[in-house]
Amino acid sequence: MIEPVYSPSPARYDSMEYRRSGRSGINIPVLALGLWHNFGSYKPMQEIKAMAHYAFDKGICHFDLANNYGPEYGTAEENFGRLMDASFRPYRDEMFISSKAGWDMWPGPYGNWGSRKYLMASLDQSLKRMKLDYVDIFYSHRWDPATPIEETMQALVDIVRQGKALYVGLSRYPTEQARKAFRYLAEHDTPCLLYQDRYNIIDRAPQSTGLIDLSQECGSGFIAFSPLQQGLLTGRYLNGIPADSRMARNTSLKADVLTPAMLGALKGLNEVAGRRGQTLARMSLAWLLQDPRVTSVIIGASSVAQLEDNLRALANTSFTPDELSRIEELSSPVQLHEVK
Ligand SMILES: NC(=O)c1ccc[n+]([C@@H]2O[C@H](COP(=O)([O-])OP(=O)(O)OC[C@H]3O[C@@H](n4cnc5c(N)ncnc54)[C@H](OP(=O)(O)O)[C@@H]3O)[C@@H](O)[C@H]2O)c1
Repeated sequence: MIEPVYSPSPARYDSMEYRRSGRSGINIPVLALGLWHNFGSYKPMQEIKAMAHYAFDKGICHFDLANNYGPEYGTAEENFGRLMDASFRPYRDEMFISSKAGWDMWPGPYGNWGSRKYLMASLDQSLKRMKLDYVDIFYSHRWDPATPIEETMQALVDIVRQGKALYVGLSRYPTEQARKAFRYLAEHDTPCLLYQDRYNIIDRAPQSTGLIDLSQECGSGFIAFSPLQQGLLTGRYLNGIPADSRMARNTSLKADVLTPAMLGALKGLNEVAGRRGQTLARMSLAWLLQDPRVTSVIIGASSVAQLEDNLRALANTSFTPDELSRIEELSSPVQLHEVK
């Protein structure tokens, strides 16, 4: 059967909010789509297409990737390359696409961490897989304690000079290293566009490390990943562990987080969400978006129905002081304050 040519919704920009990323010329949608888990080799291409098209049709024009997203490593980028060919090529200039390098990608001494050799080679591979000439933003995916920070940062600067990325970003840097990195990049006319960190109702590390404030102070946007704590902050686990869930796959989300205290907190939060007329997923996203220091939130979804639910968070992103204090009260016993 010949598939119809993808034609995006003409109303795609009508209901999305766009926020300026730090002190830059770039506005990004408050919800971005992350391809960490649900876009790799095990997911049928039809489902991948349905989710990506649905997102773009709703104004989610920022797609967040990395060299190792899959599983298998690299397959999310390969599938994204298929989407570029099949649907998105005519809309490339409407899209903001990221990739990253910093975690283990290929064997040997040059396929991990933060050397110039790894970053340069990895981005070349990512561009080939995604069938792109350039990415909009390229991240150093984590701080490398063994490589001088100047080497990692200069590689980012040179990647921009080569035209392979338009902007650069940082993810998972300790506060003092992030401060140095922000300074180096700014002094080399390649200011950090986005700092990417895990942040949600339960994981408060960006508050305790000060990174959310430091990003703002240094003129960088802040983009939160795992806003639903990988699905914990949704209705998904309130009545057991569904067979098709991330927790059941036992990879990055383990069942031991579901302690009685956690379950109690989730049930309480779910009731607060219900009183606001929201699902827990929607309230968790709205909670992030009520913070003006948050530029955007990267959602991972395994179905169009989840995306649809998550987009409805935008209908109510304001909270009463009572709601906020109840959320604090319920979540404080299970909050994380350190980088994990
Ligand atoms: N920089 C970094 O180091 C880093 C690290 C991690 C992630 N990230 C980025 O952040 C993105 C998002 O991370 P994440 O996937 O952990 O995000 P998340 O939004 O916290 O979790 C996504 C998972 O939550 C569940 N879910 C989503 N919406 C739902 C809904 N409405 N109702 C019920 N369940 C729902 C789904 O689980 P099921 O699969 O069980 O359905 C989905 O796979 C990644 O794709 C990646 O781009 C970056």
